[in-house]
Amino acid sequence: MNKKLRKAVIAGNWKMNKTRQEAAALINEIKPLVAGAGCEVVVCVPFTHLETALAATAGSNVKVGAQNCHWAASGAFTGEISAGMLADLGVGYVIVGHSERRQYFGETNLTVNGRVRAGLDAGLTVILCVGELLEEREQNITEEVCSLQTKIALAGVSKAELQNIIIAYEPVWAIGTGKTATAAQAGEVCGFIRGVVAGLYDQAAADGLTIQYGGSMNAANAAELLAMPDVDGGLIGGASLKAPDFAAIIKAAND
Ligand code: 13P
Repeated sequence: MNKKLRKAVIAGNWKMNKTRQEAAALINEIKPLVAGAGCEVVVCVPFTHLETALAATAGSNVKVGAQNCHWAASGAFTGEISAGMLADLGVGYVIVGHSERRQYFGETNLTVNGRVRAGLDAGLTVILCVGELLEEREQNITEEVCSLQTKIALAGVSKAELQNIIIAYEPVWAIGTGKTATAAQAGEVCGFIRGVVAGLYDQAAADGLTIQYGGSMNAANAAELLAMPDVDGGLIGGASLKAPDFAAIIKAAND
């Protein structure tokens, strides 16, 4: 019932894939397939492809996001991109705290919090990723891990700013493995995270928050996952690189 209070958002996380030419071609293939979508559609492309993606999506319902941003507005941070630079391009979304950033690039809950803050300050919608490792699930500490990640990432974020936050629950063991969480597992943790947010703010704020599931979501399993009361969308890796698959997930969200 509360699902009616929030917008379904299906976002593709392209990760480090595609040339610019391939990116434009993929977007041009996606656009007609999702033109009437009732949900929000976002493609999060590599930094070098943002302008290409913005040009290719112009006048369509497909929005463009980046895959990270730095916590500072500017300065001596070689290799980094600020949230303000993204906003200056016309980018509307940014993924923050993806498990691949945490795993391979030393992101911590504190740096994730800084990047969330920076994204909000620049006027971006932040897709905040949280999720447990396989070992953590096996140790029955999924809730503790997701609670801690959520609480630290949202430190200093006001209730009003929560409207520009999407949380993506991505169990690390399900990412790129073809091993999807069951709908029950996904629904359970998304519901748990909503409870954490209700505790931090209030129930109304939590009821309005879009919580996505991510991890091997595809055309075949999307409908079941998206039918769960607390799963409001998806953050899609591999399947977002194929227009028919991505469109099928968006159709499942519409249904
Ligand atoms: P896959 O859909 O390839 O498992 O990736 C999920 C993901 O990491 C999205 O951010």
